[in-house]
Amino acid sequence: MTIKEYVAKQKQLLCIEVEGLQVKPSFVIIQVNDDPASDSYIRGKIKDAGEVGIEVKLDKLSPTISEEGLLKVVNKYNNDPKVHGLIVQMPLPKHISEDRVKLSVNPKKDIDGFHPLSHLNPCTPQGIIDYLESENIAIEGKSALVIGRSNIVGKPMAKLLLNKNATVTIVHSRTKKDDLLNLLARADIIVVAVGKKWFVSEEPLKESAVIIDVGINRVDGVLYGDVKPERNVALQTPVPGGVGLLTRLRLLKNLLEAYYEICNN
Ligand code: GUN
Repeated sequence: MTIKEYVAKQKQLLCIEVEGLQVKPSFVIIQVNDDPASDSYIRGKIKDAGEVGIEVKLDKLSPTISEEGLLKVVNKYNNDPKVHGLIVQMPLPKHISEDRVKLSVNPKKDIDGFHPLSHLNPCTPQGIIDYLESENIAIEGKSALVIGRSNIVGKPMAKLLLNKNATVTIVHSRTKKDDLLNLLARADIIVVAVGKKWFVSEEPLKESAVIIDVGINRVDGVLYGDVKPERNVALQTPVPGGVGLLTRLRLLKNLLEAYYEICNN
């Protein structure tokens, strides 16, 4: 199934699940920036939530708000029993500590999976694992290559693949070109999350390889992935219409998990 088909089907199932709930699941997005990319991500999250019957509120704060001011707002939602999930959209203004804010979110409501005590995993890597499993793509024993080591994608992706018993290698901006080429040529599963248009282009790959392209690179108004399209491999996720949809779907699923945890306790 393509990612679009998979996400549409999963959303139908979520819609039915939410319809059967007495209390409507709800989450809050706190935005403290004027970043157009964030605006676009947030629009996507609000649209998805609406489609499956989940309530969402956007609380847009001035980028000049103090750290203490933001923490107070976070705390208000942490303690509001009608709110089951809480997202503080990144990036934050420079005068606010990202770590402090991430640690301030009630771990039970942390649907981004950013808090070390959160029971949930970050949405992009977990969404990718969900899709690989839905396609019956074996992970155990496979050689997985993760390109990029961000806290949101690369590192948690490597951890989740490792937990599924893949043999995982992480490469990054300081990796030797030769090493990268050798690893690419041997990898069964390749996750590319470096944020550079067509970072992987013509390098030799296995025909049986699965490529997951996490890149969203806007150049002159056009979106490009981190991988040149239509490589000769078993599966390559498209950009747009690929991993972004998986991330958004996983956010809804994380919210429902948080909802059950909060409402059943
Ligand atoms: N900024 C870019 N991606 C994300 C995300 O997944 N969650 C939050 N909170 N901010 C982001």
